[in-house]
Amino acid sequence: MEVKVTASKNYSVVIKDDISSFNSYVKDLKGDKVAIITDSNVDALYGGLLDKAFSNKKVSEYVIKAGEDSKNANNYLQILNFLAKNEFKRNDTIVAFGGGVVGDLAGFVAGTYMRGINLIMIPTTILSMVDSSVGGKTAINLDSGKNLAGVFYQPSLVYIAVDFLKTLPKREVLSGMGEVIKYYFIGDTITYDDIVKGATKDLIRKCVQIKADIVNRDEKESGERKLLNLGHTVGHAIEKASNYFISHGECVLLGLKKAIVISKAVNGLTEENAKKAEEILALSNSKLSISFDKNELINYLKNDKKGKGNKVDFILLNNNLKSEIVTLDIEKVYELI
Ligand SMILES: NC(=O)c1ccc[n+]([C@@H]2O[C@H](COP(=O)([O-])OP(=O)(O)OC[C@H]3O[C@@H](n4cnc5c(N)ncnc54)[C@H](O)[C@@H]3O)[C@@H](O)[C@H]2O)c1
Ligand SMILES: [Zn+2]
Repeated sequence: MEVKVTASKNYSVVIKDDISSFNSYVKDLKGDKVAIITDSNVDALYGGLLDKAFSNKKVSEYVIKAGEDSKNANNYLQILNFLAKNEFKRNDTIVAFGGGVVGDLAGFVAGTYMRGINLIMIPTTILSMVDSSVGGKTAINLDSGKNLAGVFYQPSLVYIAVDFLKTLPKREVLSGMGEVIKYYFIGDTITYDDIVKGATKDLIRKCVQIKADIVNRDEKESGERKLLNLGHTVGHAIEKASNYFISHGECVLLGLKKAIVISKAVNGLTEENAKKAEEILALSNSKLSISFDKNELINYLKNDKKGKGNKVDFILLNNNLKSEIVTLDIEKVYELI
């Protein structure tokens, strides 16, 4: 299975069962060096797995501590220095081998080291397979918020091997399914039964295709790409307020719940259809519900990079259970949540 991205760079998202055919995709790689950036968990499980594919290169590995905390400026600078010290040139390659944290950080490094070095993504979580590895958004977190520094930088290849998911902890499966469920409300191809079956190759392909189609039309998020932020405006605020204790995808699910509430109030979503949307959310089996400080959330929304003064672009559901962009007063959001 393959999905094509045709943005500022054209590349394939290859979707396979395992890593066995990866070498055939990288055999003609330019340069003589490869840096594999990964995290401590992925390294413990799969360290050394890619070495054979790069047997004709000088391979170095950079392992960050697993977890969202690692998506920071310190690691970013350290990896840049690591590349410089090892004399990486622009035609050498960075491989982001791990989940969204590794992908976002390594992607930002790749996009900025010497103004851009070749990047290959090998996502190993559901979330990174269906979302973060595709589309070229890279970022690190700053003290004031998530993903505040980053660049758009497309990889040259995304290689998905669904077998990696066999070792994924339950919490991370749940987190990934949050993002998958988001796609149900964005594209037309995902069915209720698909979600019941979980993260199969076919479901991953459908998600990637929905994302690729949107990125192909609006790479830099001037319009349509904002739809992919469904559940994320409130979701990010909760994520930050919980100090990243709650996983990204679960925060998206909580954000989706709020989007349903707001859609009922201001976007014509009927009670009956809101129930249907909630049934889809329930398939995630997330039992989470949290209370949070409204003022903290509003402050966060005001600082959000998608905010415009007292207004915020919110992604709501219409009565066909599809997402659309609605600009709302932040005060109104305060009232409704
Ligand atoms: N760039 C984008 O477009 C985009 C989109 C969505 C999310 N994100 C970002 O992605 C990040 C979340 O990504 P994530 O959910 O993949 O988190 P993650 O990278 O932290 O991975 C989750 C956990 O799973 C472990 N892990 C990874 N692969 C594994 C495997 N195969 N087996 C066992 N354990 C494994 C990791 O070590 C980590 O502990 C957030 O920082 C979010 O902001 C970015
Ligand atoms: Zn997300």
